[in-house]
Amino acid sequence: MELKKFLLIPILMAILAYLLYEPVPDYVQDWHSVAIKNCIGKLCHFIGSALSLTGLWEAPHVQLQRLADLALLTPALPANSSRLTVTEARFADSRALVFRPAGARAGGPGLVWIHGGGWVFGSPDASAGFVTRLAMRINITAVAIEYRRAPEHPFPAAFDDCLAAVRSILANASSVLGVNPHRIMLGGDSAGGQLAASVTQALAKAEDQLTPRLQLLVYPITQLANFRTQSHRESYRSPLLEGSQVARSASMYLTGSIRHWRSVIGNGHASKSVRAVYTERLGESMPPESSHADATLAAKLEKLLIDPRVSPLLTPSIDPLRLPPAYIVACQHDPLRSDAHLYSQRLEKSGVRVYYKYYPCYHGCLTEDKDAKRIVDDMAVFFNSNAML
Ligand SMILES: *[C@@H]1O[C@H](CO)[C@@H](O)[C@H](O)[C@H]1NC(C)=O
Ligand SMILES: *[C@@H]1O[C@H](CO)[C@@H](O)[C@H](O)[C@H]1NC(C)=O
Ligand SMILES: *[C@@H]1O[C@H](CO)[C@@H](O)[C@H](O)[C@H]1NC(C)=O
Repeated sequence: MELKKFLLIPILMAILAYLLYEPVPDYVQDWHSVAIKNCIGKLCHFIGSALSLTGLWEAPHVQLQRLADLALLTPALPANSSRLTVTEARFADSRALVFRPAGARAGGPGLVWIHGGGWVFGSPDASAGFVTRLAMRINITAVAIEYRRAPEHPFPAAFDDCLAAVRSILANASSVLGVNPHRIMLGGDSAGGQLAASVTQALAKAEDQLTPRLQLLVYPITQLANFRTQSHRESYRSPLLEGSQVARSASMYLTGSIRHWRSVIGNGHASKSVRAVYTERLGESMPPESSHADATLAAKLEKLLIDPRVSPLLTPSIDPLRLPPAYIVACQHDPLRSDAHLYSQRLEKSGVRVYYKYYPCYHGCLTEDKDAKRIVDDMAVFFNSNAML
C-alpha cells in the first residue's frame, strides 16, 4: 500500500512536468506567450484524449481548446478611443468586427480579414490584435469576419460564409463602411489564407464586378491533398503548430470527423487520380503514401481534394487578368511553408504579380508582439509605397 503511494506521486508529477514543460526554440522572441499557448494546447489535448477514451465524445479537446481560447487566450477587444473605433456589424450571415482608425480617410482603401485556426478554432476577436495593428499603421478601415467552423460545420460552410460575407462587404463598402469598393484587400492567415485565396479565385471565376485589389496571404494552407510536402517533413514540429494538428483540422473540415487524421497525415486519403492531378498541375509528384491508406476515404474525397474551394493551389487554371496580385508571407519554421511557396510559384508562372516574403519565423507568429513586428512593418512599407492600393 505504502509502496503504491510512493510510486504514484512521482508518476503523477512526471506526467504533470511533461505537460507543463515546453521547450521553446531560441528564435522565438515572444517565448513567454508561445510557451503558455503550447502548454494550454498540450493540456487540452491530453485531457481531451483521455476523455475521448470514454467514448462519449469524439473530439473533446476541440471544446476544451475553444473554452481555453475564450477564457484565457483571447485578449479583450481594443476599447474605443480617439484613435480607433470598434463596432460590430453583419455582412450576409456573418458577424463582423469593424476597426476604423481615426486617420482612415472616407473613400480610402479597406481590408477584409479571415482569421485562421484550422477551420476549427479562432475568431475575429482573436485576430483583432494583428488587424488593429496593421489598420492603425496604414490608416485604413478593416473588417474581420466570422464563419461557421468544423467539425460541426464541415466544408463548404466556411467557404460559403466567407464568400457571401466578402460579396456583401464589397457591395456595401462605400455606403456602410465609407471605403472605396475598388480598393479592398482580402487577407487571412493559415486556414484563413486558404479561404481568402479560394474566395478570390471564386469571385474571379464568377466574373463579379467587384473583386479584391490584393490578396494578402499569411502562411496560408493552399491544398489538402499532400501532407508530405518538404516543409511537412522538415518542420513537422514547429512552435505553435505541429503537422498532426494540421491533419486533425483537415480531417474535421473535410469529413466532419477527426477520425481520419492518421490517413490524412500519411497521404492515405489521396487517391491515384488526385496524385495524377497534383503532378499535372504542379509539375512535381506527391510522395507516396506512408501509412494508413484508406481507399474508401480516398474515393470519398477524390473530387474535394482538388476542388479550388479547398485547394486553391490545385485549381485547373488561373486567369492572370482576373486574379489580383498576391502578397504572400511564408515562415521558415512551419509545416505549411511549402504550401505558401508552391502557391506563389503557381501564381507567378500563370502571370499573376506576386510579392513573396520569407521570414525566419514560425507559424502563428502574427498574433505575437515582437515576432510579428518585421512582418507588419514590411506590410506597412508595401502599402504606403504602392499607389495601386
Ligand atoms: C464604439 O463606438 C461605437 C459608436 O461610435 C459603438 O457603436 C460601439 O459599440 C463602441 N464599441 C465599443 C467596443 O464600445
Ligand atoms: C449589402 O448589399 C446587399 C446587396 O447589394 C444588400 O442586399 C444588403 O442589404 C446590403 N447590406 C448589408 C449590411 O449586407
Ligand atoms: C494616420 O492618421 C493619424 C491621425 O490622422 C496620423 O496622425 C498619422 O500620421 C497617420 N499615419 C499614417 C501612416 O498615415
